[in-house]
Amino acid sequence: MQIVQDAAGLRATIRGWRIQGQTVGFVPTMGNLHEGHHSLIKLARARADRVVASVFVNPTQFGPGEDFERYPRTLAQDQAGLAEMGCDLLFAPDPATIYPFGAAQSVSVHVPGLTCTLEGAHRPGHFDGVATVVCKLFNLVQPDVAVFGQKDFQQLKVIERMVRDLALPLKVVAAPTLRAADGLALSSRNQYLSAEERALAPQIHQTLLKMHELLDKGHARKVIEQVAASTLERAGFQPDYAVIRRAEDLAEPADDETRGLVALIAARLGNTRLIDNLPFD
Ligand code: PAF
Repeated sequence: MQIVQDAAGLRATIRGWRIQGQTVGFVPTMGNLHEGHHSLIKLARARADRVVASVFVNPTQFGPGEDFERYPRTLAQDQAGLAEMGCDLLFAPDPATIYPFGAAQSVSVHVPGLTCTLEGAHRPGHFDGVATVVCKLFNLVQPDVAVFGQKDFQQLKVIERMVRDLALPLKVVAAPTLRAADGLALSSRNQYLSAEERALAPQIHQTLLKMHELLDKGHARKVIEQVAASTLERAGFQPDYAVIRRAEDLAEPADDETRGLVALIAARLGNTRLIDNLPFD
């Protein structure tokens, strides 16, 4: 696996592949990779001739109290995992490659509507940072296919919308959420859970399943959301939201709407904020 830090080196390698008629799959990451990320690489491998992964801890998507400095940087370990998964090129740019005029002076990509709710409401500015960095990475890599995990459901929708609205010439592929045997969605944040918290954490997935069951039985959406939030609270979580939304635009569905929905939860457990979701279809 080749490791490249600069835009010129990245473009030269990709140009070489293109000349041979090869397609390029791309998996953007912030590093600290786990099996969930590895499954994204695997999916990219299946969809393209060559696979590029990026590792860049993007400062513009972290809010004031969100510990950008403390985000784990584990490049050597990430590199080994990516090589093992058959990734062809690791792009690990320094901040000046991504933000040549500095992060504060960067052109910013704002996806309206979708980004005001849920994660966007709890993490103001987060999705502007995500859309901006992903747009820049797309321009650098110019992939045919880019793979994003369904675990970050709202992020996936924001990227899909940006790609469509800006007519970016690539296909976004959604990768299913990978779960531990007890249902907990794999996430870099799971490593911050104490043993006691780790034992409680699968209740998020159980609550999502319960939300599905209650909707299937015909219970009202608002009632289901209240039941889900109070179940989580009783179990020791501090839920930010436990809701059923329209999958396409994350808007509140009409009372009689039962198709194309998704259940989403964000909840704190001690100092760790966990998110998960379960699409209905
Ligand atoms: O999901 C992530 O790891 C990040 O939000 C992404 C898409 C790599 C942008 O920095």
